[in-house]
Amino acid sequence: MNKKMNIVIVGLGNIGSYFYNYLKKNRNTLFNKTNTIPNIIYVSAKSLGKKRTYKIRKSLWLKNCLLAPKIKNVDIIVELIGGADGIAKKLVFEALKNKKHVVTANKALVAKYGDQLSKIAEKNNVNFEFEAAVCGGIPIIRSIKEGLIANNIKKIYGILNGTSNYVLSSMDKDKLEYNDALSKAQKLGYAESNPASDINGDDVASKIKILTALAFNSYINNKSILVEGIKNIDRTDIDNANNLGYKIKLIGVAETTKKKIIQRVHPALVKENSYIAKINGVLNAVIVESNPVGNTVLQGEGAGPGPTTSSLISDLCSILRGNVKFPFVLSDKKRKKAIFENINNKKFSAYLRLDVKDKHGILSDVTNIMAKNKVSVKRLIQNPTINKKNASIVMVTHEAKSSSFTKVLSLLKKKKYIIKIPKIIRIENI
Ligand SMILES: NC(=O)c1ccc[n+]([C@@H]2O[C@H](COP(=O)([O-])OP(=O)(O)OC[C@H]3O[C@@H](n4cnc5c(N)ncnc54)[C@H](OP(=O)(O)O)[C@@H]3O)[C@@H](O)[C@H]2O)c1
Repeated sequence: MNKKMNIVIVGLGNIGSYFYNYLKKNRNTLFNKTNTIPNIIYVSAKSLGKKRTYKIRKSLWLKNCLLAPKIKNVDIIVELIGGADGIAKKLVFEALKNKKHVVTANKALVAKYGDQLSKIAEKNNVNFEFEAAVCGGIPIIRSIKEGLIANNIKKIYGILNGTSNYVLSSMDKDKLEYNDALSKAQKLGYAESNPASDINGDDVASKIKILTALAFNSYINNKSILVEGIKNIDRTDIDNANNLGYKIKLIGVAETTKKKIIQRVHPALVKENSYIAKINGVLNAVIVESNPVGNTVLQGEGAGPGPTTSSLISDLCSILRGNVKFPFVLSDKKRKKAIFENINNKKFSAYLRLDVKDKHGILSDVTNIMAKNKVSVKRLIQNPTINKKNASIVMVTHEAKSSSFTKVLSLLKKKKYIIKIPKIIRIENI
């Protein structure tokens, strides 16, 4: 008799609906590829009564999804509800405790509880798979765990959020203001109705925490991470960056320096002819620097039902084929308590923009404050008069410690000649 594994899908929203229909349609193809039949025995969501564009047999419907982990002949639970806590958390913990394999696309859950969940999975000899949680359709997790297994990873970085990249690209290419670019992203279905975590950097932070743990064999670190979003970027910054030969991108970076790990998420000016500068719209791109292979680049759709289902199916097939794998590459016992370094000591050059009252002596006061804090000017780009009373000073600095920039900003903010909160955006040589 053909081998079969019984699957429960919980969550039939954007992702769950596409995944359910894909799996139904491609059951035979996946059987041919894995030699195991992927058999949906139940589906569950919040309400059966909700109108869906496809039919679900009543006998498939599981009213209370939390019963799934207790059902004896269930092998795999696919969690597509979302949220770090609440029902998704209960379901995944219970599933692994009851020796069910789990597939999830839930980055918030994995970033918060991934270590605990992975430990339970290992103890109970089941798989805990989360490829779809990082960069939608891009197979970055499987690449780190399998394709790049021979390599020592030094740095992993890229554009990990399609919504914020779409907003920044539209501000640049279509000359839209920030709010208009965001509304357009929402209208086109790229941004969530509440796009806060896309815009404030939290979504990228969850992904970077997961990638850090995978790339550097460490436990997930939720504390030492710099997270800055894009809501303070305006059209003037985009234009200034263009005049300087740069593009502004929201980047996520995890890197090791002197055996310490730095995790950071922030907007950055990147050279206009760099690979990262050319990733526009909703695309995501991840670059892995490792030894001996060198640089590996993965680019593709970072969200949406189709790309996310591609990753979910990859996880599912990994389970159907057999073999239990460590969720974070190494056994829990062998993962490291790594040292995470605060970004304060890291050196950057930066773009500095000051909108000031147009009065004599301001520029020398600004450069004095900078010099006292070991920040020096490389280029003073422009000093155009916005109107008769006010002016905008734009500078590119030499490299200085992150903490020095913080000090300069806090001193400048207090000055009476400052008319808008001054801005520093890091310049990233990638
Ligand atoms: N959207 C993307 O492009 C994308 C990309 C990568 C990863 N993800 C991740 O995929 C997951 C799902 O995202 P989504 O966009 O599909 O979300 P969604 O459209 O909001 O769907 C959520 C689903 O969860 C169900 N649900 C909510 N509360 C429930 C409860 N108490 N019990 C059972 N089911 C419940 C909902 O039921 P009803 O249908 O009855 O309301 C709905 O079917 C999230 O973790 C998200 O971060 C999404």
